[in-house]
Amino acid sequence: MYDIHCHITYDVDDGSQTLDESVKMAEIAYESGVKGIVATPHSNVPRSFKNYWSSELLGKVRELREELVRRNIPLKIFCGQEIFCTRNTVELLKAEKLITINNTRYPLVEFGFYDQSHDVMEILKEIISLGYTPVIAHPERYAFVNENFDAIERIKLSGCLLQVNKGSLFGSFGEEARECASRMLAMRMADVVASDAHSPYMRTTEMNSAHEYICENYSYDYAKYVLNVNPGLILQNSKIYRF
Ligand SMILES: [Fe+2]
Repeated sequence: MYDIHCHITYDVDDGSQTLDESVKMAEIAYESGVKGIVATPHSNVPRSFKNYWSSELLGKVRELREELVRRNIPLKIFCGQEIFCTRNTVELLKAEKLITINNTRYPLVEFGFYDQSHDVMEILKEIISLGYTPVIAHPERYAFVNENFDAIERIKLSGCLLQVNKGSLFGSFGEEARECASRMLAMRMADVVASDAHSPYMRTTEMNSAHEYICENYSYDYAKYVLNVNPGLILQNSKIYRF
């Protein structure tokens, strides 16, 4: 499995706070069957975490990679960001201040939980016009999606990919998010399932439970598709296929 959404970089956001916590998150991931993780710190969040491209930020990823080699944990760490979308996102992408998933044409993007559908679509269209394929982080958590599931259809038709959170499968983000995630999986609309892990203690990097859950409730092939095949293709900057 590959996990394309994880707050494993330490001391940059509300995820891992120390190098030791990051190592524990890596250990948990590897033991649960994950081969590679994309480090996606919150970025461009208004009045909060900025984490624009910087040599310091990349240095932290390098430091974690080196520590994993020292401790014999054969887990790959890729660079990325969870980019909070605002009106300035397109300009920041053009200025190369943002980091896409493993520097591919796939940026991982999030929105405010109460953003309006119309505004979201406007920003997504602008990002797509630059040649990117946005991967929408946890669409099941947004109010505009919970209010009207057609929004999922519209986002999908625009060419974006949908990344569901592991926790949403188990109701960690409330009943509405759980129901929406389960509908997306039942309709085979989710393209990727990722941990969105923030620590080794809760919202963890353990992914075997997600694999088992999707196998039992949907199918083994679909579990492989959203946890392994698609995230692997995204990391290689390849086109994903529709399930
Ligand atoms: Fe996240």
